[in-house]
Amino acid sequence: MKTNLLILIITSFFMLITKVNAQDYAGSNACKTCHSAKHSDWLTSGHPYKIQKLENGQAPVYPLLSSHKVVGPDVDYILKPGVPQPPKGYTWDQVGWVVGGFHSNARFLDKEGYRIIGDSAQYNLISNKWVAYEGTTPGKASYSYSCYKCHTTGASPVKNAEFQAYPGIEGSWVEQGIGCEGCHGPAKAHTTNITIKPTKNGYESCNNCHARDRGESFAWNERVEWRAQTVGGISTGFIRHREQGDMMGASKHAAVGFTCATCHEPHKSVYYENGGLKSTVSCESCHQNKEIPGHGLAQAQCVDCHMPFAAKNGDVKTFIVSEQSAHFWNIITDPVTMFGNLDTISGFKFIKKDGSGMSGLTLDYTCVQCHTDKDVNWASQYAKNIHAGITSVAQNSEIPSAYTLGQNYPNPFNPSTTINFSVPKSGRVTLNIYSITGELVETLVDNEMNAGRHSVEFNAGNISSGIYIYSISASNFKFSRKMMLVK
Ligand code: HEC
Ligand code: HEC
Ligand code: HEC
Ligand code: HEC
Ligand code: HEC
Ligand code: HEC
Ligand code: HEC
Ligand code: HEC
Repeated sequence: MKTNLLILIITSFFMLITKVNAQDYAGSNACKTCHSAKHSDWLTSGHPYKIQKLENGQAPVYPLLSSHKVVGPDVDYILKPGVPQPPKGYTWDQVGWVVGGFHSNARFLDKEGYRIIGDSAQYNLISNKWVAYEGTTPGKASYSYSCYKCHTTGASPVKNAEFQAYPGIEGSWVEQGIGCEGCHGPAKAHTTNITIKPTKNGYESCNNCHARDRGESFAWNERVEWRAQTVGGISTGFIRHREQGDMMGASKHAAVGFTCATCHEPHKSVYYENGGLKSTVSCESCHQNKEIPGHGLAQAQCVDCHMPFAAKNGDVKTFIVSEQSAHFWNIITDPVTMFGNLDTISGFKFIKKDGSGMSGLTLDYTCVQCHTDKDVNWASQYAKNIHAGITSVAQNSEIPSAYTLGQNYPNPFNPSTTINFSVPKSGRVTLNIYSITGELVETLVDNEMNAGRHSVEFNAGNISSGIYIYSISASNFKFSRKMMLVK
């Protein structure tokens, strides 16, 4: 069954690549009149921004979005799409295309279609920093065929007349970025005869791109690749980016027949809002009674433990946290780090699979991302059977053992809600409310407080409905959470 799926995936991929007739494509604009809501959702998702052609010296354009990202005590930043300036040594006039720049990083092609490489040739969005791309020597690389097949619509290895002008590009494409027909296939016939239905496949079509390259001499697609790295002097590593399809292939969710579209609304963004996640993704809708005694939602949500940011595209935030979620769901509870859970084949490191082809994530990502002063040996004692309540992690002492900021309740709320927090040591505490774009709305606490468990009420009074962020700062502890006001 698995092999069949794989063959299907590979075949559909080559169909996508080889059977391209530009005249069969209508372009996303042609879908707008009849599917206007889908079209406007899609415009604020990442897919259209995979590659943008620049004309007349214009800077690339992105939708106005922003998102506050928080993981454990050490990660707190605001993510926004966009690139502030062209790469070093270039003006926008001299840049032909921008690749990405929506959520993770941006790379650039010159006017001839060659990739611009060297020092300060890549812009990383989560750190707002320019970094080296393919070494530090400035120059241009020959464009790899494999890039555009996942970053455009209607990619073809055949160079048509228009693309003869770009020696750096090996093939051609019909539309910049992933347009409607990037997932639905050529649909011109449908625009004039709506009874001819385009395809709408929610797994194989995604895996054409959300997986390691296919068609290489080495079978990337059968395994999830991991790369060792040193971050802040600590030996660690991350799952390589765009492997959601490979990870899912080694999970029970795929084994029971889930597709990406079981959880994702493919026309909406996930990085900037949870609009791209269907209501069915609420893990509790299928998995009941998973509360952990003493370690409730206030401490960690289902995705914090089961889908931590263990995969890396552009940047890392701490030695264990990067920017993309693991898609295994399973957690390995033995006291091993990822270094002990790998197979090395031909110099590449792959995450181990068990006898039935399943993989999982180790406790360094699952628990140590928040419990930054602990290790897998500590975590393993609590992690086994954690939902069965056999090992309760509840604490009874009056003085809490760590700083915490609880989820407000009720949530959503109108007009007031309660926020609990704990401070293990006496000292100055501030608790601020911010809008989703980062403007200060109100300061709830700003004074010396005794060690203990505290709570404070927030009355939203005359502010409008929406998502707000509340952030605590005490000693070195900084933590933020979201709350929703519905009037
Ligand atoms: C003239 C109006 C019109 C245009 C233009 C149009 N569609 Fe449709 N489309 C429809 C209608 C009507 C349906 C049927 C709606 C339904 O089943 O709910 C439909 C259905 C679909 C479906 C669902 C097929 C299914 O099996 O349920 C997809 C996917 C789709 N369109 C994609 C596109 C794409 C991509 C484009 C642009 C290339 C496009 N449409 C352009 C009218 C249009
Ligand atoms: C990232 C891939 C992707 C892109 C890009 C995409 N779609 Fe879809 N679309 C899907 C999938 C997958 C489904 C089936 C969803 C499901 O099974 O729930 C779908 C479903 C649909 C449907 C059927 C109604 C529905 O909600 O299920 C329509 C109509 C449609 N898409 C139109 C469009 C139009 C128009 C665009 C461009 C503006 C577009 N799509 C872009 C993947 C995509
Ligand atoms: C097998 C398909 C595939 C190939 C080949 C590929 N990419 Fe990507 N790329 C993706 C996917 C999927 C994502 C987003 C999801 C992710 O990062 O997990 C992405 C993300 C990116 C981003 C970040 C986008 C953003 O908005 O933050 C950049 C930049 C990028 N790729 C550049 C390249 C370049 C340059 C090449 C060729 C050297 C390349 N990619 C080859 C599929 C591919
Ligand atoms: C032709 C290649 C391609 C296909 C097909 C494709 N993707 Fe993507 N996807 C990408 C690339 C490249 C990016 C990164 C672009 C960016 O964010 O700038 C991306 C980004 C995303 C993102 C993050 C961006 C956001 O808006 O939050 C999600 C979620 C996603 N894809 C889901 C899907 C799903 C689900 C499917 C199948 C229904 C799918 N993709 C099909 C290439 C593809
Ligand atoms: C639509 C229903 C559904 C949703 C939504 C869902 N799951 Fe599952 N999940 C399942 C099913 C079915 C299985 C397989 C059960 C089995 O085979 O024993 C499963 C298995 C699992 C497993 C066991 C993995 C293993 O290898 O043993 C974990 C962990 C899990 N899900 C976590 C989650 C999390 C976290 C979410 C939310 C992001 C989620 N699930 C959303 C239905 C769902
Ligand atoms: C069981 C539900 C589920 C399935 C199935 C699933 N995802 Fe996700 N995905 C999520 C959740 C939940 C998030 C957000 C996690 C978070 O908020 O930390 C996410 C996030 C993402 C993101 C972007 C943001 C990030 O944190 O990395 C991409 C891209 C993505 N998924 C692609 C895919 C693709 C492609 C598939 C199919 C191969 C897929 N997903 C299958 C639940 C799912
Ligand atoms: C999203 C962050 C987060 C994640 C992920 C997380 N925890 Fe926690 N954990 C907390 C917070 C916050 C507390 C509360 C500390 C307090 O009130 O003293 C806590 C408390 C605990 C406690 C009791 C207090 C102590 O320090 O002894 C244990 C045990 C514990 N967690 C184990 C785990 C294990 C095992 C995992 C991984 C399976 C895990 N946690 C994952 C945030 C997290
Ligand atoms: C503090 C981290 C943590 C949080 C939060 C958490 N889990 Fe788990 N979960 C684990 C660990 C660790 C295991 C593995 C337990 C084992 O194998 O003995 C697990 C196992 C599971 C399993 C498979 C085994 C079983 O008990 O059925 C499912 C399903 C699951 N979790 C769903 C959820 C859902 C749904 C949520 C949110 C309500 C959630 N988890 C929240 C750490 C967590």
